[in-house]
Formats: sequence, C-alpha cells, structure tokens
Amino acid sequence: MLSMWGNLVALCLVATTVSGAEKGLSSHAALLADNSASLALDLYQIMAKEKMTENILISPVVVASSLGLVALGGKSSTASQVKTVLSASKVKDEQLHAGLSEVLTEVSNSTARNVTWKISNRLYGPSSVNFADDFVKNSKKHYSYEHSKINFRDKRSAVSAINEWASKSTDGKLSEVTKNVEKTDGAMIVNAMFYKPHWDEQFHHKMVDDRVFLVSRSLALSVPMMHRTGLYKFHEDTTNHLFVLSMPLARKMSSVIFIMPYHVEPLERLEKLLTRKQLDAWFSKMEDRAVAISLPKTSFEVSHDLQKHLAELGLTEAVDKAKADLSNISGKKDLYLSNVFHASAMEWSTEGNPPDTSIFGTDKLRNPKLFYADHPFIFLVKDNKTNSILFIGRLVRPKGDKIRDEL
Ligand SMILES: *[C@@H]1O[C@H](CO)[C@@H](O)[C@H](O)[C@H]1NC(C)=O
Ligand SMILES: *[C@@H]1O[C@H](CO)[C@@H](O)[C@H](O)[C@H]1NC(C)=O
Ligand SMILES: *[C@@H]1O[C@H](CO)[C@@H](O)[C@H](O)[C@H]1NC(C)=O
Ligand SMILES: *[C@@H]1O[C@H](CO)[C@@H](O)[C@H](O)[C@H]1NC(C)=O
Repeated sequence: MLSMWGNLVALCLVATTVSGAEKGLSSHAALLADNSASLALDLYQIMAKEKMTENILISPVVVASSLGLVALGGKSSTASQVKTVLSASKVKDEQLHAGLSEVLTEVSNSTARNVTWKISNRLYGPSSVNFADDFVKNSKKHYSYEHSKINFRDKRSAVSAINEWASKSTDGKLSEVTKNVEKTDGAMIVNAMFYKPHWDEQFHHKMVDDRVFLVSRSLALSVPMMHRTGLYKFHEDTTNHLFVLSMPLARKMSSVIFIMPYHVEPLERLEKLLTRKQLDAWFSKMEDRAVAISLPKTSFEVSHDLQKHLAELGLTEAVDKAKADLSNISGKKDLYLSNVFHASAMEWSTEGNPPDTSIFGTDKLRNPKLFYADHPFIFLVKDNKTNSILFIGRLVRPKGDKIRDEL
C-alpha cells in the first residue's frame, strides 16, 4: 500500500534524515501524514460503493488518529493490525502515537491556518468498564480523546446523550451522529467535527442567488450558489471529461480541490479514476488561470459508521468480539470496537480574505474558464504543508427544495 512517495519517505526514515525538515514535521509524522492520504482514498472507495450513500465526508487524518487510539488500547495482533492499516508496521509505538498526534496538531491549528476546525473525540464504554489510568492519560495526550461510560441498555437515552454531546461540542452545527445504536456491548468511538474553510479570496456576499442543482437527470433542487471570478489553479481533463479546480484557503496552507464531471452523471466513473497516481497527475497539470466559479453556498452534515469499512481495510480483530484484545483500555479483555461514528459538518460560505483587486478589469481575468458546480462532484481538502488529506468527500445532494422530480 506504500506509494512511491511513501517509500521515499520511508527511505529517508532509515537514513534518519528528517525528510519533512524544511516543513517542520518529524520524519515519522511525515510518513504517517503521507500514508493517511492513501488511507483516505482506500476508505473513500469502499464507502462510495455503498448503494444508499449519497454525500460522503470523512477526515482521513482524524480516522488515522482514531486508529492510533485503537493501537493504544490494543495488544498483540489487535494492535499490530492498526499499523498495517496505516502502512506503518515498522514504526515504533511511541513514534506512531507522537507522529499521528503531531500531524493532527499541525493541521488543525486554527490560528496558524485561519480555518475553523472543531474536533471532538470520545470513547464510550459500557457501564461495566473501568478505563485504565494510563490509557486515559495517553489517549488524552496524543489524541485528545475524552472517555465516558454509557448505559447502552437504555438505548434511547444513550443515543440522545451521544447526539447532545456532539451537538454541544460543535456549537450546534452537528445535530445528529446516530439515530440508533445496535451493538450495545462494546466500545464506541465518536468523532464530532465542524469545518469551515476561510477562502484565500472571499466571495462577495452579495454575489449569491438561488440556482438549479441537478442531483441527477431527474432530480433538481433549488440551491443558493455563490459566484466569483479569480485566478485559480485549474485543469480541464478533456480525455476524462472533467474539471479539476484548486481553491486555496487563507494563508495558502491548504486548499479545497474539486473534481467535477462536465455534466451531471453518477460519480462512479470519476471514482474509478480516483487513485493517488491520477490525483498527482491532475495536480501536476493544473495551471493558474482565470476561472469563473459558481459553488453551492451550503452546509452539510454527514455521519458514517466506519466500523465495517475499517474491517474491510484490514482492521478485522478490533471489531470482532471474539478476537479483539483491547485490554490496554481497561486491563481486561472485555471490549471490542462496536461502532466508529465519524460525523462532520462542513460549511461553505462566502467568507475569506479580501481579494487582490489589482487584477480586476485587467486581461488576467479575461475569458475565464467556467466552473459551474450545479451537479455532483468530489472534493478534497488537501494540506499543502504535510501532504495529508484533511477531508475527502462528495457532494451529491445539497440542501434545497425540490424543483422537479420526473422520469
Ligand atoms: C499495553 O499495556 C502493557 C502493560 O500495561 C504495556 O507494556 C504495553 O506497552 C501497552 N501496549 C501498548 C500498545 O500501549
Ligand atoms: C498554532 O500556531 C500558532 C501560530 O503559528 C503557534 O503560535 C501555536 O503554538 C500553534 N499551536 C499549537 C497547538 O501548535
Ligand atoms: C481568519 O482571518 C481573518 C482575518 O485576519 C479573521 O477575521 C478571521 O477571524 C480568521 N478566522 C479564523 C477561523 O481564524
Ligand atoms: C503551497 O505552498 C507554497 C509555498 O508556500 C505556495 O507557493 C503554493 O501556492 C501553495 N499551494 C497551494 C495549492 O495553496
């Protein structure tokens, strides 16, 4: 699963030269950041195959840190499987935890990055569990995890307690993590997040109006869209009939990359193309040019239970009641990972830094390419400094009133 780049970093690791030195990341953090990008695509591909799934929103770096928590609580093969999933079998435990922690601390620094990213993590255990002090201490230290016991037998109050906590810790942006808890006898991971990009160049708050968004050829919604023309990295892949656009976020430390087909179509075709190699090829072909962007001004909340998907990636023991050894959590072999709720709210608003007005009305903005996002697309929030993917997802169905529904 190691990419070429991952191998390179691994080589530097052996030579103990800090490959990420100029970027300030330790070598094991750089390796883990890079590997989390591979994890991102693997996980996305698995999730995209689920028929009922519409919007997808996952934060690979947060998934990686939740895996780190499982490694912290796990013993023997339950723990070593985590490293395999993270392509980090050779990384020592201490470096794994310190490295994952370093990456997340770096990319979620709101001050340095001028973005809003609230991340709250909790490990719920059944009433009978006693969390070991060491585990509590280390999971707080490395992964900012809180711990809580919950009486799963009273499902209704368990569900509302989880949802209330998630809502509170995201300032009300994420109202629901789950409607139900089926398995009530294990440990449950909950990630609750709110992310709001602050564009490097803002949209004018008045350049917003209602437009038609085509979920499919037969379903149209009325959705507020924001519009602006500026200089952006852009590539039109005429072979694959798609556009790739990169919109930098404030301080240019990360950017949102959109991958959108020319016209409305199911995203399967694009998803088949989505490999790291293809992404790198697209990125290398992007050129600065004038682009007239129209993008939904929207917020969306998505909650996934990743338990099954992580098993598909190779984390088979931790999720298996008969095999799991998570005895570093409680000192007893009494837990398995019954749910991994990964829930995020994302908001795309007009907000950003004031644009460079000196190019307004000049030749630079003449004949812009059109990027009119009125149909489903894939997006990534890619970090420029660590090479990690902060979010990957697809917007298939934004919020909006149905305009017509025929066929
Ligand atoms: C699990 O706990 C044992 C003993 O408490 C400790 O030696 C070991 O390092 C722990 N394993 C991990 C992966 O933290
Ligand atoms: C976040 O970034 C700021 C500014 O670069 C820095 O001073 C601060 O120490 C960082 N915080 C953390 C937790 O790394
Ligand atoms: C981003 O920077 C702008 C301008 O300095 C500031 O007004 C805004 O509050 C910042 N937002 C975040 C989330 O840091
Ligand atoms: C990444 O960072 C470099 C150096 O700071 C900057 O020149 C470049 O524009 C950034 N790329 C993106 C996509 O923001």
